[in-house]
Amino acid sequence: MTGIYDDPWAYELACSFRDVPPEVSVLLAWCARHRGPLPDGTDAAPVRTVLELAAGPAEHAREFARRGRTATALDLNAAMCAYAAESAARDGVELEVVRDDMTAFDLGRRFDLVVTMLDSTSHLMTLDAFVAHLRCVAAHLAPGGLYVVEMSHPRDRLGDDEPSVGTAWTVERGGVRASVRWGEPGDRLDPVTQIADDRVTMTITEGDAARTVRDVVPYRFWTAGELDAAIRLAGGLTAVARYGDFGDVAIDAPEAWRMITVLRPS
Ligand SMILES: C[S@@+](CC[C@H](N)C(=O)[O-])C[C@H]1O[C@@H](n2cnc3c(N)ncnc32)[C@H](O)[C@@H]1O
Repeated sequence: MTGIYDDPWAYELACSFRDVPPEVSVLLAWCARHRGPLPDGTDAAPVRTVLELAAGPAEHAREFARRGRTATALDLNAAMCAYAAESAARDGVELEVVRDDMTAFDLGRRFDLVVTMLDSTSHLMTLDAFVAHLRCVAAHLAPGGLYVVEMSHPRDRLGDDEPSVGTAWTVERGGVRASVRWGEPGDRLDPVTQIADDRVTMTITEGDAARTVRDVVPYRFWTAGELDAAIRLAGGLTAVARYGDFGDVAIDAPEAWRMITVLRPS
């Protein structure tokens, strides 16, 4: 994979519209809500180990590590892995970084919490890939563990508005501004494959200097029903909740803008 993910610093800046620490607090609150009781009837212990998949700069994993959890970040992209490891070292937090494929990894141990954030499962292009991914996750969940997968809200692609994928935003951090366009109005989801080639443009401005990163990112749209079917096909996992945002936002609430599914070992 080449392009926008090969510039992790710019990618992280572009995604700084998110507030990661409150998202991590909600993830921990969901763990408290959905983890226990264990199959033997006892309560699950607090979350100690966390695995972030398709982690990119691993902002969530680093925040878990900052909060004293043993955190591991996995990503396919070498630049992202290097950036995650350097950022953790710079911040003085311990983070294990693994370069691997989220559809075919074997870390040889299980985790209390596994997360995949920001629609990274849109990089799974086929049902076989999604099922393989879920089987890997199931094999890495401790008893009473949780898998939380954040995807975009299906309304983005199936809403009443024309199914265009274009969104644009500007963020600023430390005097550096990033203007991002993710998807152009002409980018269309192929109705048969459910894949769109999202054209992405990011302009980074610092003082008088500006540079532009351009990429085409293949995006596979997954419906809620397809996800449920993939979960059944994979086996070993059950969906226990679905939210429309980090917090108590129902998936069908008007303000819902993400589809976050919480899974437990079955
Ligand atoms: C949209 S970024 C999201 C990064 C991160 N989850 C976040 O919240 O910022 C998608 C990430 O998925 C990674 N990726 C794509 N396909 C992958 C695969 N098969 N296995 C592991 N990582 C993958 C990319 O390298 C990229 O870092």
